[in-house]
This record gives sequence, C-alpha cells and structure tokens, in this order.
Amino acid sequence: MSDPVIITPLPDGPNEVSGLTVVKDADGNVLKEGEKVYLCRCGFSANKPFCDGAHKREGWTSN
Ligand code: FES
Repeated sequence: MSDPVIITPLPDGPNEVSGLTVVKDADGNVLKEGEKVYLCRCGFSANKPFCDGAHKREGWTSN
C-alpha cells in the first residue's frame, strides 16, 4: 500500500503536497514528479501551478 498524499496549506504560502505526486497539465503532459511539490494558491506565481515565491513579494496572506 502506498503512502497517502497529504495536502497542507502553509500559512501565507502555497499548498504543500506530500507523498508520491505527479502533476500533469490539461493535455496529460507530466510537469513534475516527486515526493513533495508546492502549488501556488495566491495567483501571483509566474510558474503556475507551482509556487515561485511571489506570494512573499506580493505580501499575500491566507486570511
Ligand atoms: S503561493 Fe507562492 S507564488 Fe503563489
């Protein structure tokens, strides 16, 4: 049995996705595989769906 995928919204930051993860685009192309990925939830990333740290520059908060 594989480990579960755990999605944790980080305070004032991205969603951390832990566990064996494959992120694909709408055409099914693999964008990233790994044990941990960080997905943007602020909308400012220039590398969506991944976090590129822009949330800090923009002063985004999750509240
Ligand atoms: S959450 Fe980090 S760039 Fe959006």
